[in-house]
Amino acid sequence: MTHPEQPNTEPQDEELQENKYLRRIRSFVLREGRLTKGQQRSLDLFWPTMGLEHQATPYDMTAVFGREADLVLEIGFGMGKSLVQMAKAAPDKDFIGIEVHKPGVGACLGEAETEGVKNLRVFEHDAIEILNDSIADNSLSTVQLFFPDPWHKKRHHKRRIVQAEFAQLLRRKLKVGGVFHMATDWENYAEHMLEVMKVAEGYSNLSETNDYVPRPDHRPLTKFENRGVNLGHGVWDLMFRKES
Ligand SMILES: C[S@@+](CC[C@H](N)C(=O)[O-])C[C@H]1O[C@@H](n2cnc3c(N)ncnc32)[C@H](O)[C@@H]1O
Repeated sequence: MTHPEQPNTEPQDEELQENKYLRRIRSFVLREGRLTKGQQRSLDLFWPTMGLEHQATPYDMTAVFGREADLVLEIGFGMGKSLVQMAKAAPDKDFIGIEVHKPGVGACLGEAETEGVKNLRVFEHDAIEILNDSIADNSLSTVQLFFPDPWHKKRHHKRRIVQAEFAQLLRRKLKVGGVFHMATDWENYAEHMLEVMKVAEGYSNLSETNDYVPRPDHRPLTKFENRGVNLGHGVWDLMFRKES
């Protein structure tokens, strides 16, 4: 999606060309983001307490947060506004955000400080690597993926983060009974998510109609989304529970 406050992370073809020697097809192309003074200040001040570095072994999140609580992990939180809002609204849960875009990480840290949110830690790294290396198996209650880059063009669909292998990576990290929650405003991506998840082993669809679910109250409606809905644009939520 293109969001007025969000970086448009969809690159042009020539940028993809430059990345053709990457080992793995990635869901993002890292751009030199300009940091505002405020974002830099937030990174300087709050990264030491809220930031987590990629590491080759899983973190003990009980030690990180100093308590045992349900763990919610969000992939690609953008500027972090809705993640901070969700963490504030659920102080009994602990939240982990992962984002590759540094200005977004700075903005999220600043927002968390402003809102007095303590139950949030943030990685600035590729979510696939964090999940594989730094997050323990069977440890997450929820994984959230809200408005991931849709990769509109057909030849770029392989860059979409939701793929069969990704579904199984998340399955490994979720507890039994844990939920993978996706939302998108791009119908073709919603259909793609549904196709991938319908045949993903070990999950059940929480939709009564076996496709989409109504937006749950705990997912904040963004300004962008609100305007989109008023203009008649659709948003699709999908929720799948890990059964085994
Ligand atoms: C279209 S934006 C949506 C941001 C936010 N979730 C929202 O709803 O406003 C998608 C975000 O996912 C991030 N992203 C894409 N692939 C990622 C990955 N593998 N690891 C971490 N972040 C990723 C991008 O940097 C971008 O900020």
